[in-house]
Amino acid sequence: MTPSFNQTPALQPIQASPVRQLKAFKVSAVVVLTASLWFLSTHSAWAASAEKGKEAFMKHGCWQCHGTQGQGGAAGLKLAPAPKPLAYISAFIRNTNGPMPPYTEKILPESDVADIHAYLQSLPPAPDPKTIPILN
Ligand code: HEC
Repeated sequence: MTPSFNQTPALQPIQASPVRQLKAFKVSAVVVLTASLWFLSTHSAWAASAEKGKEAFMKHGCWQCHGTQGQGGAAGLKLAPAPKPLAYISAFIRNTNGPMPPYTEKILPESDVADIHAYLQSLPPAPDPKTIPILN
């Protein structure tokens, strides 16, 4: 008898099983998430920067009344450490009509205000006077 080559069952078209499809979906979801996190962490425009905030605080003259560390001065209130929330600071800066001049968004963009807030937040609390020898 001659062997027949026609006995092999017809090849089935390769189909992705539902389990495989789910695995592929999970892998792509992880890739997309990782890529987004990388993007967010490397694009500083998305996150407020204390470093840029310090520059803005100096450039816009906040320091002249509030002190370079936001510690307060003869003309301006203490702003740091533990600054008020960003929403409060932003609303105050835009709407003040007292001794502090208001800053419009054109002069001081909202991203600068967020950076200034980050700068004020980054400042450490003053040391306890009891730990300063000359005061005791
Ligand atoms: C000419 C001086 C002067 C300058 C410049 C100035 N401030 Fe002020 N700021 C003040 C005074 C005075 C007050 C208190 C005013 C009041 O109560 O109406 C104040 C209040 C504030 C408050 C509210 C504080 C609170 O606890 O209620 C914030 C926030 C603030 N300033 C942020 C800033 C920032 C940020 C800048 C720079 C963009 C700036 N200021 C520039 C004088 C100044």
